[in-house]
Amino acid sequence: MKEERIKIALQKSGRLTDHTLELLQKCGLVITKGKDKLIAYGENMPFDLLFVRDDDIPSLINDGLCHLGFVGLNVAMEKNIHFKSLSDNKPFSIEATLDFGQCRLSFAYPDEADIQSISDLEGKTVATSYPRIVSDYIDQQNLNINVTEFTGAVELAPSLGKSDAICDLISSGSTLRAHNLIEGEVVLESSAVIISANNQLSESKQQWVDKLLERIDGVLQVRESKYIMMHAPRDAIDKITALLPGSESPTIISLEGTDKMVALHMVCLEDVFWETLEGLKSEGASSILVVPVEKMLA
Ligand code: PRP
Ligand code: ZN
Repeated sequence: MKEERIKIALQKSGRLTDHTLELLQKCGLVITKGKDKLIAYGENMPFDLLFVRDDDIPSLINDGLCHLGFVGLNVAMEKNIHFKSLSDNKPFSIEATLDFGQCRLSFAYPDEADIQSISDLEGKTVATSYPRIVSDYIDQQNLNINVTEFTGAVELAPSLGKSDAICDLISSGSTLRAHNLIEGEVVLESSAVIISANNQLSESKQQWVDKLLERIDGVLQVRESKYIMMHAPRDAIDKITALLPGSESPTIISLEGTDKMVALHMVCLEDVFWETLEGLKSEGASSILVVPVEKMLA
């Protein structure tokens, strides 16, 4: 009988690629790359990875060729609007929001142009690779702005005389600065997401998908989580746990030779900053140790 494999689409080369592979490997997936490098096979789990252009990922999911896709929310939203305009069906679901690939889709204006905000674009033209998201946004603002689709190097459109403004992805902002553009309204805050097909899977495939999504959730939680140990006055335990957001009830261990002081151990679900440690110290805590958590299963 043919083994049932689950196909996962991810970006071939780009800012999501390394983070996506790292996340899957943290979930225990061991892969070997095929000769053509466009596909990788899971050795210990029935997942195969397809390396594709990010813009193609939603279609691969929608057409049922892949079951899961790792893609920017920006691409997912743009295609979602497109698919919905073709049929009433819900094309795909967002299964998880990931902690990488953060960027925003924003308007940007040439610095020498007399444009302060989107309302100054009335009757003018904006270039973007996300025409559907941008058109929806403009409609919501009740403005009349022409949207022209540009694939790649959108930031060149104003200097080429193709548009008055752009609406593009911004991460560090260095591309904008290099082209003398100033960021305006933010249309969408984006990060990498996992999308899944709405088609029914066999029970065993669904179990593998659920297991992978659960492990991903565990990896994301663990990245922020810290295990904290300290000595603290017994009567400051409540104040100390209040300082550590997301911490569960601490383990309290008595210390030899004293009733007033105890050792506290706890997991904190958020990153612990220096300010927090200073707060703990002023509540009387000492010997504070913060260690990263390797794995966690709630
Ligand atoms: C985006 C965007 C800009 C650049 C902005 O392209 O189109 O060119 O990144 O980043 P910065 O603010 O850090 O300079 P991306 O590399 O994501 O490629 P793609 O849109 O073609 O997939
Ligand atoms: Zn792209």
